[in-house]
Amino acid sequence: MCGIVGYIGKNKALPRVLTGLKFLEYRGYDSAGVAYIIDNEIKITKEVGRISSLEKLIDEDSNSYVAIGHTRWATHGEPSVSNSHPHRVGKFTVVHNGIIENYLKLKEDLKKKGITFLSSTDTEVIPALLDYYYKEEKNILKTIKKVISILDGSFALGIICDDDKNNLYAVRRGSPLIVAKDKDGMFLASDVPAILSYTNKYILLDNDEIVKIGEDCYQVYDQNLKEKEKELKTFEGSYDAAMLNGYPHYMLKEICEEEKVFLDTLNYYVQDNAFKDNIPEFKHYKNIHIVACGSAYYVGCIGKSLIEEYAGIPVYVEVASEYRYKRNFYDENTLVIVISQSGETADSLEALRKANKDGIDTLAIVNVVLSSIAREAKYTLYVKAGPEIAVATTKAFLAQTTLMALLAVKLAKKEELLKEFQGLDKKIKELLNRSYLDYALDIYQKDNAFFIGRLVDYALCLEGSLKLKETAYINSMAFQAGELKHGTISLIDKGTPVIGICTNSSIAPKTISNLKEVAARGAYIIYITNEKVNDEFYNKVIYIPKVHNIVTPILAVIPLQLISYEVAKLRGCDIDKPRNLAKSVTVE
Ligand code: AGP
Ligand code: GLU
Repeated sequence: MCGIVGYIGKNKALPRVLTGLKFLEYRGYDSAGVAYIIDNEIKITKEVGRISSLEKLIDEDSNSYVAIGHTRWATHGEPSVSNSHPHRVGKFTVVHNGIIENYLKLKEDLKKKGITFLSSTDTEVIPALLDYYYKEEKNILKTIKKVISILDGSFALGIICDDDKNNLYAVRRGSPLIVAKDKDGMFLASDVPAILSYTNKYILLDNDEIVKIGEDCYQVYDQNLKEKEKELKTFEGSYDAAMLNGYPHYMLKEICEEEKVFLDTLNYYVQDNAFKDNIPEFKHYKNIHIVACGSAYYVGCIGKSLIEEYAGIPVYVEVASEYRYKRNFYDENTLVIVISQSGETADSLEALRKANKDGIDTLAIVNVVLSSIAREAKYTLYVKAGPEIAVATTKAFLAQTTLMALLAVKLAKKEELLKEFQGLDKKIKELLNRSYLDYALDIYQKDNAFFIGRLVDYALCLEGSLKLKETAYINSMAFQAGELKHGTISLIDKGTPVIGICTNSSIAPKTISNLKEVAARGAYIIYITNEKVNDEFYNKVIYIPKVHNIVTPILAVIPLQLISYEVAKLRGCDIDKPRNLAKSVTVE
């Protein structure tokens, strides 16, 4: 996710654009840049990393009253200064949110016309096309109309043309874009939070609407360049309300983003059922250590099952706060994988540093770009979950699980399994569209709950149990299904909720037997499975779609997340900021 902010007006543009971009940092990015008009010239400054790094290269007090800024979340072309936005070709300077799906063909055609490119992005074809067609159209609006008729994919564009430095131009399709107005000027932005510190008067552009923005006015045109009246709206609410975008909690908002997060993560590494070249060709490792904390550790437990099952490589999953102190048995045939959403968890970072110091190959699976763990590992694979605000991880967990499944396929050299990922987003959407309140009502007044499952289902139980603990403050425990009877079954009382997970038909009879054992002692059974059962041993059942085992955990975690969310809501908990917890545990 990235951001666009533009300004044109009576005030200096750079402070407003940079402030606006900072309010969009939550969207996640890897680089940033601005184009601004000073002494009637367009100046472009770009930098990899944080906006604070970009600010060091700019005099914000410059006498510039027109500027467009961008935070980039790379999709095509690695994070680098040359790939950062704005991109300029000829008379056109552009910032872009989105993906131009037909850029390769467009780029080849433009190269044949003698146009050279400075970046490896998809975006750069846009200013190139604008400049190319402007030579014949000689009208900026007509040129924009022509170019967007050629583009496939999604875009929100901020545009400056050398021949009209007194206006900004913008257009969107798929990626959001707003125009806002305060008493001294006009703004262009990806989202309301960017401009709320200046104004709450805005319009939301619809797809293929073009807007011409002057210092105190704007004019919207439809795709046939017919003028459209669009009344300014007033955003009633706080910055936080704007960030929530209508959801009651970030946790729910982020769970509901999982369909897109899955696709963004999958499509970042896979195209046409084949891996792109941004996953390394790992050498053959004889063993793998996965090291992490909390939910990330449970992703590791899922990864262990999948890598062992499909790649046939033994995997040892360790809690980072133990691994960093213990004697480790690794060598040049070992790959140490560190999983971390924040990329800043102290114990995970120190475990990584220990492996690095010992000369062991390390791979980081991280969500936050340019975080410490991402920067210090030998290899880094990012998940594309976007910023996760809620303390309890959900979309990042699903994205990391997706990436672990992809890694299992990569290590197994079984690309034919990639077809099993296709269409999974629709099954995710189907699970997200269900109600889980019924199950939450069975649980929310209980003090204890148990999760039981075998193999990869046990890893899912661990995460489901943690979710219930950390969001709803219910004392919950996860057990290997066969283990409960070795003591802990004494805690089962009448009505104790036991969530049983079984997604592998080969072991279903065993897990069902274990569930019957606890049911016979009064437990209240919620059974999560992907296989129809005739025997009604359970009180309630949740069927998840039957898919290949390599991708089943991606689906199975969703009911667990939403049940916990509903229970926490019923219990009136502080869902996004649970007591005693931090989003990133940067202390030991
Ligand atoms: C997740 O819901 C928890 N808040 C916590 O267990 C978290 O997974 C753990 O602290 C690891 O964080 P990381 O992924 O940022 O390293
Ligand atoms: N696809 C463009 C790029 O990779 C824009 C990415 C974004 O939305 O930031 O540069």
